[in-house]
Amino acid sequence: MSDKLRIGVLVSGGGTNLQSLIDSIANGKIQNAEIVCVISNKSNAYALERTRKHKIEALFINPKDSPDSERYSQKLADELKTRNVGLVCLAGFLLKLEQSFIRQFPGRIMNIHPALLPAFGGKGMYGHRVHEAVLDAGAKFSGCTIHFIDEIFDHGTIILQAVVPVLQDDTPETLAKRILEQEHKLYPEAVRLFASGKIKLQGRKCLILP
Ligand code: GRF
Repeated sequence: MSDKLRIGVLVSGGGTNLQSLIDSIANGKIQNAEIVCVISNKSNAYALERTRKHKIEALFINPKDSPDSERYSQKLADELKTRNVGLVCLAGFLLKLEQSFIRQFPGRIMNIHPALLPAFGGKGMYGHRVHEAVLDAGAKFSGCTIHFIDEIFDHGTIILQAVVPVLQDDTPETLAKRILEQEHKLYPEAVRLFASGKIKLQGRKCLILP
C-alpha cells in the first residue's frame, strides 16, 4: 500500500467540489493524497458519475437500507475504515452524521460551508437558504469556510476561509456562483495543507505551519 493520504469523499449532489479535488490531485497541486472512494446517499447524484469517469470507486449507500440514522452513519464509517481512509471530505453531503461516526475520525473530517462561519451556519442552513439569509441580513461580505467537523453543527475548528463581496443586485444564485468559484480553490488548498502535515490544532484554533 502506498503511503499517500487516503481520502474518502461523501457527496449528495453535483460534486463540483469533488471535481476540484480530483483535478487538483491529477494536476499535482495536491501531492501525497489519493481519493480512494466516493460515497453518496443518492443513487442519482451526478458526483457519482464524475467519480466513475475518473475510475475512482463510487458507492451508493441507500439510507433506506438502514433502520436508523445511527446505523446508517456506522455503515458509512465501516466502508471508510475498510479502505483505511485517513481523511473524510464532506463535499455537499446533506445527511447528518451521528456523533459515533465523528468520534471514529477525530480531527479527520472536513466540511465546506458556503458562508463565513460562525455566521450563517447551523441546522437547516444549506444550499440557497444560506445565501438568502446573507442577503436578508444585508451583509456586505460572504464567502466560504473549510472546517473540521465536531459534534456541534457547523461549529468545528475553522481551517481556511475565503471572502467575496455581496453586491447590491445579488440574488442567491449570483452570490452562490461567486462563492462556488472560491470553494473550488479553497477545498483543494485545505486538503493540500492537511496532506502535507501543515495543519496543527491548538485549542479552538487551527495553525497553518510554514
Ligand atoms: C457547496 O456550495 C458547498 O459549500 C456545500 O454544498 C455545495 C456542494 O456543491 N456544502 P457541489 O456538489 O460540490 O457542486
